[in-house]
Amino acid sequence: MNTPAAERKPLTLHRLREMHAKGEKIAMLTCYDASFAQVLDTAGVDCLLVGDSLGMVLQGQPSTVPVTLDEMAYHTRCVARGNRTAWVIGDLPFGSYQESREQTVRSATVLMQAGAHMVKLEGGGWTADTVRFLVERGIPVCAHLGLTPQSVHALGGYRVQGRTDESALVLRQHARALAEAGAAMLVLELVPSALARDIAASLPIPVIGIGAGRDCGGQVLVLHDMLGITAGKLPRFVRNFMDGATSVQHAVQRYAAAVKDRSFPDAEFHSY
Ligand code: KIV
Repeated sequence: MNTPAAERKPLTLHRLREMHAKGEKIAMLTCYDASFAQVLDTAGVDCLLVGDSLGMVLQGQPSTVPVTLDEMAYHTRCVARGNRTAWVIGDLPFGSYQESREQTVRSATVLMQAGAHMVKLEGGGWTADTVRFLVERGIPVCAHLGLTPQSVHALGGYRVQGRTDESALVLRQHARALAEAGAAMLVLELVPSALARDIAASLPIPVIGIGAGRDCGGQVLVLHDMLGITAGKLPRFVRNFMDGATSVQHAVQRYAAAVKDRSFPDAEFHSY
């Protein structure tokens, strides 16, 4: 039986590792403010990702590229105030970590002091040295591979990654390099399910999938997508959890439960 929200202890990295070792799926959602942080935390979402998707979701920008570190720090502070027990991950925005390891530590410090428990950064093997540098300095890191939205202009759009043997091999190599560098979690976005399953099975750390099939160690969605707020056509990997829900709290509970009991994502409709 689930522990009632009021009795839950704040999640730690140690506890997340235990959950992963026992095969318990990790439920993550993006979150950008204190009110939703309270709803998500109470509903049993394990990790709140203060994602730079807020550029598109909250600010109406065409991509995540314009989001600044100050904006990320502001939203991280808001989420931290509303949260009690969930693990909070702050996204390092475009331009805040590409220059040097030192620049990354400075940027990560801003997010950690705003209330993040971990920082996330996008990118392949070139970020491994930086990941090691952060981890050695006491900053837990979540890596992000596959579709990395900050590189949308270089990637030529929001398209599935790792479809060819060659690109799949590169993704496997980068995932291993990042885990060896000390990343404690890896977000894998928009990759074929079979590749995600292989990568997740080959790493000791939880792989959190978004459009990466059901065989990851956990799942993440953009909050506004799974609540059906986002206008326009949604990616196929999204399920609208408000369908049939009696409240936002109920929709979020259904999401957390569906991740934990493996009924989301669906192999047929929500995967590639
Ligand atoms: O910014 C974000 O919301 C993300 C998720 C899509 C994983 O990075």
